[in-house]
Amino acid sequence: MADDTLIAVKPEIAVKARINAARHAAMTQAAATDPDRFWAEEAKRIAWIKPPTRIKNTDFSGTVSIKWFEDGVLNASVSCLDRHLATRGDQVAILWEGDDPGSDLKVTYRELHERVCKLSNALRRLGVKKGDRVCIYMPMIVEAAVAMLACARVGAVHSVVFGGFSPDSLASRIQDSECIVLITADEGRRGGRKVPLKANADEALRSCPSIRHVIVARNTGTAVAMQDGRDHWWDAMTAGEPATAEPEPMGAEDPLFILYTSGSTGKPKGVLHTTGGYMVWGSFTHDNVFDYREGEIYWCTADVGWVTGHTYIVYGPLANGATTLMFEGVPSWPDNGRFWQVVAKHKVNIFYTAPTAIRALMRDGDGPVKKHDRSSLRILGSVGEPINPEAWLWYYRVVGDERCPVVDTWWQTETGGILISPLPGATAQKPGSATLPLPGVKPALVDNDGKLLDGTAEGNLVLLDSWPGQMRTVYGDHERFVQTYFSTFKGMYFTGDGARRDADGYYWITGRVDDVINVAGHRMGTAEVESALVAHASVAEAAVVGMPHDIKGQGIYAYVTLVAGVEPTEALRKELVAWVRKEIGPIASPDAIQWAPGLPKTRSGKIMRRILRKIAANETSGLGDTSTLADPAVVQELIDNRVK
Ligand code: WT7
Repeated sequence: MADDTLIAVKPEIAVKARINAARHAAMTQAAATDPDRFWAEEAKRIAWIKPPTRIKNTDFSGTVSIKWFEDGVLNASVSCLDRHLATRGDQVAILWEGDDPGSDLKVTYRELHERVCKLSNALRRLGVKKGDRVCIYMPMIVEAAVAMLACARVGAVHSVVFGGFSPDSLASRIQDSECIVLITADEGRRGGRKVPLKANADEALRSCPSIRHVIVARNTGTAVAMQDGRDHWWDAMTAGEPATAEPEPMGAEDPLFILYTSGSTGKPKGVLHTTGGYMVWGSFTHDNVFDYREGEIYWCTADVGWVTGHTYIVYGPLANGATTLMFEGVPSWPDNGRFWQVVAKHKVNIFYTAPTAIRALMRDGDGPVKKHDRSSLRILGSVGEPINPEAWLWYYRVVGDERCPVVDTWWQTETGGILISPLPGATAQKPGSATLPLPGVKPALVDNDGKLLDGTAEGNLVLLDSWPGQMRTVYGDHERFVQTYFSTFKGMYFTGDGARRDADGYYWITGRVDDVINVAGHRMGTAEVESALVAHASVAEAAVVGMPHDIKGQGIYAYVTLVAGVEPTEALRKELVAWVRKEIGPIASPDAIQWAPGLPKTRSGKIMRRILRKIAANETSGLGDTSTLADPAVVQELIDNRVK
């Protein structure tokens, strides 16, 4: 699509922006010529107990070793809390907007510090020490951020599990990192409905012997089962605790958190981020990509269960002393003007959301947007999946009244923060393009043999060198880290994405090239859905692929072979959809299930997903070479019975 639609930086924005085009060029140059010097300077943006003298020590070859600021000592919670107390103790740190439009809360930096310290003391009383893993399974309430920061304060490694995940998904994540404490709530609220978090947790904990204690925040006030000796109410735990707590001194390379993410195999990977580099990256990118200014109201609509919530609701904005808006609800409830109502109510300046939300709201027309005052908005952001130019332009024209630059930010759980994005005061935008790398980021395109492609090209997106926010390992499985990210193309980090680079050097992300699909901005491994399906007694075999979806970007299309003798019925189809929801969570619900008496396999038994993807997308004219199939006839059968 229109590579030539170029939206220049408005002079009034460039003049005030922290980074204009000249500065962008100078920073890019400086970061490339002397990374140690550049990042030593940027590291000063966070608080150190002992500032680092060794800056970059990274190696993408062999066993892969990534260290940044390695002799520095710090505590992430101090950067987010303590150091703001003198200058902005009474400023709102977290502006919470409830699911119910009548409910909100303002928590100042002083109050947040106090709440974090109290919970830190409670965690220590339960025996939590530096390096212990704590699982957080929470709704979008202030306590979720307090829990993360309290873990950081005592040196515990948090593992936040999205509140929409099932008991099974929660259990496997707790087991993998052997968490000793679980922090949850009685229930969550979303779009007028209740989510039974404590009940889910109880079910999960039947298979989690590592958990010694559960801390339960009272949210909806519903009655929940409490197990004596194991379960504790948050309020009772923290009430008598002192309002200060010593921050644990952490090495820059000590772990800050684990976040599980889907890959090409059935088992989610524990992406491990460490303290120093991650904090520098979160602060650096939040500041520069959103051109953040003192006193602004900043709103990222993500959930803290995803990396976007970690870096751009909690750590990045709080490190920068921002007011970060935390939203419990959904864009469509009580009506589809909710986002804009909240923007008007809190005079939001910077708004960061996902293409799937933009597309869903765009479908309802301009009316719900125009009903609300959006004159406070200054910057708009997009994240999570490629944004189609139509949605981009609607966002720019209707939501932003052509006043606000749109930053289409490309990154991943693994990258810790944004890597490719326009800067509002420096980069001319092209609708649908994430544009250019941030200073210090070295993307490249390679063909399938790993050959670097020059100039205008399309290929696999890799990164040639490290940046401070990069993941360090897969928790408990460094070999898998090396295998997943550094073995496809030797000496390079492989993103799993495909991309195109145009004549201006702009990157256009085309989507995943591996067996990962992106459903409404949520990453889902096809193998995970397949293993959930085959766990059902009626299913003999399953193959899952992505299919184009108007709102979600991609939907989940499952080919299912039933056990001999089982009849394919509508009731069974519904049962399988419900089964996958129960096994993984609602985000994994298949959008289409096709009964497949046979699957296209090579003679060695490998399923040819390329063909299945094409059939799901209804692109059956160019199926390519099917001669290597064991039984080419199955292809026609599948085409004839495609789910429409
Ligand atoms: C995958 C990472 C980044 C935080 C949220 C998702 C896709 C992300 C963009 C974008 C095109 C994007 C990629 C990436 N993606 N942002 N601006 N344009 N694609 O994190 O769950 O780790 O998923 O999301 O495919 O690999 P994640």
